[in-house]
Amino acid sequence: MSSYLFAPADIRGVSFRNRVAMSPMCMYSCFAKDGKATPWHVAHYASRAVGGVGLVLTEATAVAPEGRISDEDLGIWSDEHIDGLRDVAAACRDAGAKVGIQLAHAGRKSQAVGRALAPSAVPFADGYRTPVAMSEADVAAAVAAFREGAARAKRAGFDVVEIHAAHGYLLNEFLSPLANRRDDRYGGGREGRFRMLGETIQSVREAWDGPLFLRLSLDEYAEGGNAMEDFVWYARRAKALGVDLIDCSTGGVVPARVDAYPGYQVPYAERIRREADIAVGAVGLIAEPEFAEHLVRAGRADFVFLGRELLRNPYWPLHAAKALRAEAPVPRQYARGWA
Ligand SMILES: Cc1cc2nc3c(=O)[nH]c(=O)nc-3n(C[C@H](O)[C@H](O)[C@H](O)COP(=O)(O)O)c2cc1C
Repeated sequence: MSSYLFAPADIRGVSFRNRVAMSPMCMYSCFAKDGKATPWHVAHYASRAVGGVGLVLTEATAVAPEGRISDEDLGIWSDEHIDGLRDVAAACRDAGAKVGIQLAHAGRKSQAVGRALAPSAVPFADGYRTPVAMSEADVAAAVAAFREGAARAKRAGFDVVEIHAAHGYLLNEFLSPLANRRDDRYGGGREGRFRMLGETIQSVREAWDGPLFLRLSLDEYAEGGNAMEDFVWYARRAKALGVDLIDCSTGGVVPARVDAYPGYQVPYAERIRREADIAVGAVGLIAEPEFAEHLVRAGRADFVFLGRELLRNPYWPLHAAKALRAEAPVPRQYARGWA
């Protein structure tokens, strides 16, 4: 029987050779602290493209300097970032993968220079700064920064944009009652808490007509956080505003212990797919080819995102395709190694 994992996919006219995606992972490797991509980034991402993934999704890339998690994050807040990112995108595409960029703002979890911004002046945890509660002008500036980031991503040659609204960073902070204590139109009930993310999606869509992914944390692992029915509601709204796929992660809004095991986040993806009627990515300790195949075949996910497994084994897709008796996306130059 032919593989579902290694079957091509199409989103908004962009064709992916298979449904294996490299999950975004910060490399903290802009040692000049200027947000510019380096030879490390090109080699690192191109290696996974050579290894056969359908989509390389680059790490959280800050739309504003104060939106970096650390000073060594990638950035896209200036035109000066475009050339380095273009090298990353070109190297991945040359190796047959599609390439996406994760646009991010770290909010109150930023430990970079500058002020930490958040919906409310509530720190994430001990050891973190008390953030500045954003004014409406600050919100408008951040929303515009996401649009400008998307416009630069287009100029750099990316195929996919993902908005990072997970893991307790800025957009997640606005969504969550655990971090958003505002009483203006950006807070309160879920309509208000969704407002900034909704405006961000619309703003990105003004500059970006390609596939648009959205990463959400679908469990806050704490009393008083969003419930699954809230996330289904957010996902439906996001779809109506032009999001094509929800990348289904969990956690990070408040410190919490998580009992993680292979596929632990799959039930969230499944539910969003079913109830919001939108494509989803499943992620979290997925490493077995048969399990990844099952997720797509059983209709539990449309894409399978791999993080740490691809740090260990950039050639995972080639080995997985062999194990599943699918046609492996072997680079022509390496054919003799896989004959
Ligand atoms: C080193 C490292 C950096 C990460 N950086 C990001 C990031 O920039 N953006 C993001 O959304 N998730 C980030 N994550 C989370 C991964 O994308 C992924 O969701 C998580 O590691 C679970 O998948 P895995 O078990 O396959 O690694 C990071 C994870 C690791 C290990």
